[in-house]
This record gives sequence, C-alpha cells and structure tokens, in this order.
Amino acid sequence: MSISIGVPKETAEGEHRVAAIPDVVSRYIKKGHSVLVERGAGEGSSISDADFESAGARIVSREEVLGADVVVRVQPPAKQEIAALRSGSTLISFLQPLDSPDVAKDLAARNVTAFSMELVPRISRAQKMDALSAMANIAGYKAVVHAAVALPKYFPLLTTAAGTVKPANVLVLGAGVAGLQAIATAKRLGARVSAYDVREAVKEQVESLGASFVELTLDMADMEDKAGYAKALDDEKARRQTELLAPVIAKQDVVVSTALIPGRKAPVLITDEALKGMKPGSVVVDLAASNGGNCSQSVPGETVVVGGVTIMAPLNLPSETAVHASELYSRTVMAMVFEMLDDEGNLAFDEENEVITGSCLCRGGQIVNERVKQLASNS
Ligand code: NAI
Repeated sequence: MSISIGVPKETAEGEHRVAAIPDVVSRYIKKGHSVLVERGAGEGSSISDADFESAGARIVSREEVLGADVVVRVQPPAKQEIAALRSGSTLISFLQPLDSPDVAKDLAARNVTAFSMELVPRISRAQKMDALSAMANIAGYKAVVHAAVALPKYFPLLTTAAGTVKPANVLVLGAGVAGLQAIATAKRLGARVSAYDVREAVKEQVESLGASFVELTLDMADMEDKAGYAKALDDEKARRQTELLAPVIAKQDVVVSTALIPGRKAPVLITDEALKGMKPGSVVVDLAASNGGNCSQSVPGETVVVGGVTIMAPLNLPSETAVHASELYSRTVMAMVFEMLDDEGNLAFDEENEVITGSCLCRGGQIVNERVKQLASNS
C-alpha cells in the first residue's frame, strides 16, 4: 500500500526550513508513496517548486497538502491549520509539547495521530530520528559564528608585521550536543576554548576537541542520571556554582551558553554579578533563551547590550542555516515515517516500538503523553 505525504510551507514567522527536501521526496517515492508539496514550500531553503517536481512530488494547494495521510512539518501548526488536517491523519513535527500543551489538545480534538520530534527518545537506535540533536548541532555552530561577528576582536592568534594579537578566550557552558559543536567551531576559528559542564563524563570529549575543561571546587559526583542527562543542582550547589563561575566568566571574550536539563527551566549561570565582571565588548550568546536563559539579562529573540557586554539570545538559529537544517531535519522525519510503516508500507502503530510510543503525543482522540496530558488539563 502507499500513503500520501504532505509537505506544507511553514507559516511560523522567521521559519525558513521545510520538512522534506527533494532527495527525501524521491526516497518516499521510490518506496511507492506519493508526495504533495505546497507551492513555495522550499523557498526559504533555496528549493524551487521545479526541484520538488523533478524529484517526483506534485505541487498542490495548501488545502490538498493538509489533507494527506501523513503531514510532515517543522513548526507546530496554528489553530486553523489543525482544523484543516484530516481527521484520522498523522502529523509529524516539532510540537513544543511542554511549552504549548494546547496544540496537543487541539490535535487530539481533531483526532490526529501526532508525533512530536522533541519526544523521540535519545537512545542509540533512534539516533537517525534525533531531530533535536541535528538542530542543536547547527545552533552550536551558528552561535559561535554570530559571536565572532559581534566580537570587536579576532578569534585566532595572529602574528603580523604590525605586531601579534592574542587569541580570543571562548567559554562554552554546557557541553552537550550544541556545546560540543560550539567548542569545535570556536577551535576551528582559532580561539582559546574552555568548557564547563556538570557532567564530568564530558571532560574527555571536551579535551578531545582541544579545549580545556573547567573544574570548579564543587562536589559533582553523581550528577548524571541513567539516561545520561544532568541532574538539577540543589539551591546551595547552584548558588556556589554561579559564584565559582563568575571569575572564570570574567576572563572571557565570548561565552556561549547551552546548559539545560530537558523539561526544566534553564539554570542561570551568567548572573548580573558575573556580567559586571566581563570586559566591555565581550559577547554572550545564550542558546537556552527559549527555556528561560542561562544569562540573567537575556531577552529571548533579541540582542541587548548591558554594561558594554553584547548579549544575544537567538531563538531559531537552525532556520538561519535553512539549507542544511532542512536537509538534516527532513532525514530525521523520513526515518520516523519509515519507522511507522509495516512491511506492506501501511501505517501501523507498533506498541512494542519505544520510538513510536515515546514520541506519540496524541492518538485516538486523546493526548497519550502523561506529562503533556497533565499540563493540558491545567491549561
Ligand atoms: P543537551 O542536553 O545535549 O546539552 C545540555 C548540556 O547542559 C548537558 O551536557 C548538561 O549536562 C548541561 N547542563 C545542565 N545543567 C547544567 C549546569 N547547571 N551547569 C552546566 N552544565 C549544565 O542539549 P542540546 O541539544 O545541546 O541543547 C542545548 C540548548 O540549546 C538547549 O537549551 C536547546 O533548547 C538549545 N537550542 C537552541 C537553539 C536556538 O536556535 N536557540 C536551537 C537548538 C537548541
């Protein structure tokens, strides 16, 4: 059997990505499925309608796309877009389930089987579906590029006839996916890079990238849970942590912060006190701004200057790198679509498959994720 896969043009402001690129379209088609792409869907990613057509897609109206068996997208659909989805159809997208439980409510009411790319478990088998990591990687890279542009200094050590300039000092707070890519990018640009994380297990990874690991005199034993995520610090440890970090931050030209524990508010690591210690002209790029921010003065989506320090809090760096972000994102989505199909190519819900059950947000007219159900009932 074959299914129809709909690829709408994203409607969220500033969103340039698309959930299927032509190469992915041709792979769907090779498996016998049909792909309906909304006119202009690829514009933001430099993909023309003709490119999609050459890959075998049909260019159709928005209405037709939203009527497909499976709709794939990047950002959560708006209310009127949910209403246009076919009852009984499947949606695969970032759905921000913890921040926007109302979207889940509306999808359940519309009887859409919805899979949230944020909920894909971070297990080895699901790596090819791990859209969050794919996007975090891009964000880590782009954060450093932004910092390099904003910093009124060179990143590398340069010896010139006019004298030698010292390399910039770059500190990365949180050495997860985004953090490790930020370290690698800052190193490539020639900066002197150090990084800090509560999980001591990442020390080796940080050092293997040629950066130094910042060790604070803080007992950090047992800071990692079974899934490999950091545990939250108690109030006293968190206070001590920011106190100890302040003098480290003061020495930096650039701080890129990425610290987060999934499902929690981001810890404030760059306090007002720490900012006061930074040299004018220094730059902070706070990647955790959408979760409250790692910097006390971050304004989500904006760049502000406080005491001479430029503080950037970009919310959608992957969209700024739309060509590659769309390429990588659409592959993770394709892997999800294929994960859902049985041997005959029919959509099947395998109750034994933890990727499917873990990422499913709504099914049978209900929100099936317990945490989101709770949030939705309080909203
Ligand atoms: P991750 O979970 O791989 O990494 C977060 C790291 O923070 C972990 O290594 C964790 O141990 C560390 N951490 C947690 N609490 C800490 C603390 N108190 N002190 C020091 N380190 C601590 O997450 P990932 O995928 O790298 O994402 C990082 C951040 O980037 C998230 O906030 C995510 O939402 C954001 N992001 C932002 C984008 C943007 O355009 N602004 C795009 C993609 C991701």
